Amino acid sequence: MAFLDRHKAIETHATLLLVLSFLVVSIGGLVQIVPLFYLENTIEDVEGVRPYTPLELTGRDIYVREGCYVCHSQMIRPMRDEIERYGHYSLAAESQYDHPFQWGSKRTGPDLARVGERYSDDWHVDHLTSPQSVVPESVMPKYGFLLDRIIEPEHIVQRLSTDRMLGVPYTDEMIENAAADFAVQTEVDGDYEGLQERYPGARVRNPDGQPGISEMDALIVYLQVLGTMVDFSTFTPDASR
Ligand code: HEC
Repeated sequence: MAFLDRHKAIETHATLLLVLSFLVVSIGGLVQIVPLFYLENTIEDVEGVRPYTPLELTGRDIYVREGCYVCHSQMIRPMRDEIERYGHYSLAAESQYDHPFQWGSKRTGPDLARVGERYSDDWHVDHLTSPQSVVPESVMPKYGFLLDRIIEPEHIVQRLSTDRMLGVPYTDEMIENAAADFAVQTEVDGDYEGLQERYPGARVRNPDGQPGISEMDALIVYLQVLGTMVDFSTFTPDASR
């Protein structure tokens, strides 16, 4: 057959095969990549996703500093075993304001994308202080020293401004109130209305129960928000995209 003969010509000439393969792959690549340059946004907006509060952001920085991502991913893949274990698969929007993202590539420990509100604050304090006291076979290191490290929001205005430069929609008002919002998020009896207006759904808690904001507080405030911003009982993917 003529078609097969022509194909034979390609298959028996390595250079021709190489050139034509390259052509095919290039066209395929362009078709996939070029449209992305013309879309304003490739991330579907999802209700509930908001920038981190100053204290959550500080906790996140501690998470990154301590290298928690070396053992923990934050991305639930759309596969049955993962969804049954961890919950709804991760949406792009849920890490929209993460700079850098914490998807990770290693799971020595479980995925943490939806660990928020799964355990109590006390559980987290015990677990971070001595993982083996809660899960005897755990290989997770101890982070009890975080309890002794009291933090002040010295650089919080610059921290939020930096994220704003990267595209996180922090408003002038959020930046002006950053230090106050930082402090009030652990004041269970405090006046945190402003915080919750600026960051809907932000929860106020004092995980270690001590006065003063420790790195332990900040880290747990961050862990407790993970995966809780989107209400999956009402979420429906936007099929028009
Ligand atoms: C050497 C690897 C390693 C590192 C580093 C590590 N973890 Fe873990 N983590 C584990 C393992 C293994 C488990 C499962 C056993 C357990 O619960 O302790 C775990 C469990 C957890 C859990 C419970 C998750 C669940 O769904 O039960 C949380 C929360 C957690 N780690 C947070 C952290 C944080 C925060 C850091 C950084 C400060 C961190 N881990 C660093 C290995 C690690």
